[in-house]
Amino acid sequence: MESTIPLLTPYKMGNFELNHRVVMAPLTRQRSLGGLPQPSVILYFSQRTTNGGLLISEATGISETAHGFPGTPGIWTKDQVEAWKPIVQAVHEKGGLFFCQIWHVGRISTSEFQPNGMAPISCTDKGCTPGVEGYDWAVPRRLRVDEIPQVIYDYRIAARNAIEAGDCFYYILSILLSKFVGIYIRSLCFVPAHSILEP
Ligand SMILES: Cc1cc2nc3c(=O)[nH]c(=O)nc-3n(C[C@H](O)[C@H](O)[C@H](O)COP(=O)(O)O)c2cc1C
Repeated sequence: MESTIPLLTPYKMGNFELNHRVVMAPLTRQRSLGGLPQPSVILYFSQRTTNGGLLISEATGISETAHGFPGTPGIWTKDQVEAWKPIVQAVHEKGGLFFCQIWHVGRISTSEFQPNGMAPISCTDKGCTPGVEGYDWAVPRRLRVDEIPQVIYDYRIAARNAIEAGDCFYYILSILLSKFVGIYIRSLCFVPAHSILEP
């Protein structure tokens, strides 16, 4: 009798029909230059694409203040959108689905990654200690209430940019928002594209 491996059976995920259930998890590779994913990333994702398979991009910054690690990509500028387009296209050409994981690291950052060497932003001015992998996070600056809409706006722009780049969906990873609401926002994932585009 033929055996069926559950992992290799089709799955309907909302509007998406996956041919199997092996998903490429978001994996920060730190190979971007100046926030731009490089052409080698086209091959990287293409090699990992299967027909009807789902791939999630590495965590991708929504703004200048979103970064906390060297070499991570962004999706808030026109150039970044253009750099993502051929990557998404390569995945689509092989029949894969590509979601962009948009993120803001909040206080998991240091001044070296922040514009003008400023303190990272958070809902608190308490630093996150200890750091990991040789990084000591900087003492953050507590966001003023009137600054929060800007962060939400940045998420919306990043989502729009991901649509423009061809992504099917967004997957929100927000260490910054997590800190505000007290839960780790990663399992709130798979937010439908248009739900964060509405005002
Ligand atoms: C090198 C590396 C980079 C990662 N980058 C991200 C990331 O960008 N975004 C994210 O949500 N998770 C990231 N993760 C977490 C993975 O997506 C995954 O959840 C984790 O490895 C646990 O999966 P496992 O239980 O199958 O090992 C990363 C993990 C590793 C090892």
